[in-house]
Amino acid sequence: MNDQQDFSMAFLDTADGLTTLMIHGFPLSSALWQPQIEDLKHYTRIIAPDLRGHGQSDAVPGPYSISLLADDCVDLMGHLNVAPPFVVSGLSMGGYIAFEIYRRYSEHVGGLILTATRAAGDSEDGKINRDKTIKLVREQGIEALIEGMLPKLVSSKTAASQSELMLFIQDMMMETSVEGVVGALAAMRDRPDSTSMLNQIQVPTLIIHGQDDQIIPVAEAKAMAKEIPNAELVIIPGAGHVPNLEQPDSYNDAVIDFLDSVESAWRQEESEDE
Ligand code: MLT
Repeated sequence: MNDQQDFSMAFLDTADGLTTLMIHGFPLSSALWQPQIEDLKHYTRIIAPDLRGHGQSDAVPGPYSISLLADDCVDLMGHLNVAPPFVVSGLSMGGYIAFEIYRRYSEHVGGLILTATRAAGDSEDGKINRDKTIKLVREQGIEALIEGMLPKLVSSKTAASQSELMLFIQDMMMETSVEGVVGALAAMRDRPDSTSMLNQIQVPTLIIHGQDDQIIPVAEAKAMAKEIPNAELVIIPGAGHVPNLEQPDSYNDAVIDFLDSVESAWRQEESEDE
């Protein structure tokens, strides 16, 4: 017979501690984070979604908005029962989504990692270019977008020396559906300007940018770092718009140091509360 008693059971759960939501850029997928998953998994639980229309997620027809994409990510965290706060990390368009998550769900966010992104919205010319790209992709398919965009995604050093990486990025882009590309372009075109929010960000923030980013100049990262009160800026030499793929060791070292400091601050807060 089983003599049942109430007792306090100890257990190990590797999912305890810090969780990081990693949001990819356009027109990529969670495969973007491949070099991070291996190295960072000892420091944080990583949740990396494929945004709607991208990667293995359904090619849901538009319209999309940055707000909708942010809700998709926050809903996923809820669905997985991830207790907030968590770290939100976004690359480029993923950064636009990270700003939106902070704007609407700041209580969920314990830290921000902003890679190759900018706070400003699209200029009038930028909006016109989004519409031209939408037309191009609708008429000629994703290949036409890739042809123009792929060389700009990396530094000239990466393009000349990492041919396998170039193929990897191209394959990832090819997996994006036309619906996903069109939806994301319109969402980026219409996104809010987050510049006025920067000085109100109250969580530790790591800004990482490739020195040779051809899509978002490094000056934008420097400007963000000046405005966000608790921000650290890491500029990665020899890298372009996807520094986490181009220079993964430098990128991962910066993220690990950041996660360590966020985690120790949380532990200290917890022990002060006890
Ligand atoms: C991205 O890398 O996510 C996009 O190129 C960003 C943008 O076009 O604004």
